Amino acid sequence: MRRGKQTGILAVQESPFQAAAESSTNDMATTDRDRWNAKYAQRTPEPVIVPDEWLIESCEMIAKSENRPRSSQRACDIACGLGHNSLWLARQGWKVDGVDIAAEGLKLARQSASYGIAEVNWLEADLDEWLPTSDYYDLAIVFRFLDRVTIPQIINTGLRRGGWLVYETFAAGQLSRSDSHIRNPAFALAPGELPKLFPDFDVISFREETLEDRTVQRLLARRR
Ligand SMILES: C[S@@+](CC[C@H](N)C(=O)[O-])C[C@H]1O[C@@H](n2cnc3c(N)ncnc32)[C@H](O)[C@@H]1O
Repeated sequence: MRRGKQTGILAVQESPFQAAAESSTNDMATTDRDRWNAKYAQRTPEPVIVPDEWLIESCEMIAKSENRPRSSQRACDIACGLGHNSLWLARQGWKVDGVDIAAEGLKLARQSASYGIAEVNWLEADLDEWLPTSDYYDLAIVFRFLDRVTIPQIINTGLRRGGWLVYETFAAGQLSRSDSHIRNPAFALAPGELPKLFPDFDVISFREETLEDRTVQRLLARRR
């Protein structure tokens, strides 16, 4: 297990925008797996696939910067959950791996995919132990998940030079929101923190946003 250093895992309850169960024990991955499987076991497949707006906006910026056919490009949705962003990317033509520890969530994601929307390669894996093939992906995305150790390791390994990172997760402002379950500062990004986790990347766009239902940092960056 690579865990044990300072990390922050965000977990989301019934709505993807409600945060967060928090834990920092050594068997955190097992606990996470059980908790998320229990949560997803009560859900049904999403009838409509609605991607995150930051993903759409970022993909528009990426498309303006390069003109390569999507069908030849690989993307990885890290901690993909129910796979809404994976499915949207696949519909845009990306070859997508959706990675998550929770088999129950991936089962629902497969059912959503079986509506005929798109094909995704769903990988059940513990991010504490999983590493992608080196320089394999053209795009890595992370939404509503923070692990300050494993996520940079995975992305620095798997994303090729020139590849894109799209990341959105909760910022410190989330802690004081009355609609938030996150109370531990270790589980929310400090001001300006997200780009600092990726020093080998050029920042294309970074902002902290207070939205109607959450306070987040949003990053689009490109590996040098
Ligand atoms: C808050 S959800 C976010 C899901 C999705 N990215 C979204 O935005 O809807 C966090 C996800 O992280 C996954 N997760 C938690 N710990 C993990 C681990 N150690 N390895 C892989 N996935 C993990 C959970 O199963 C859950 O699906």
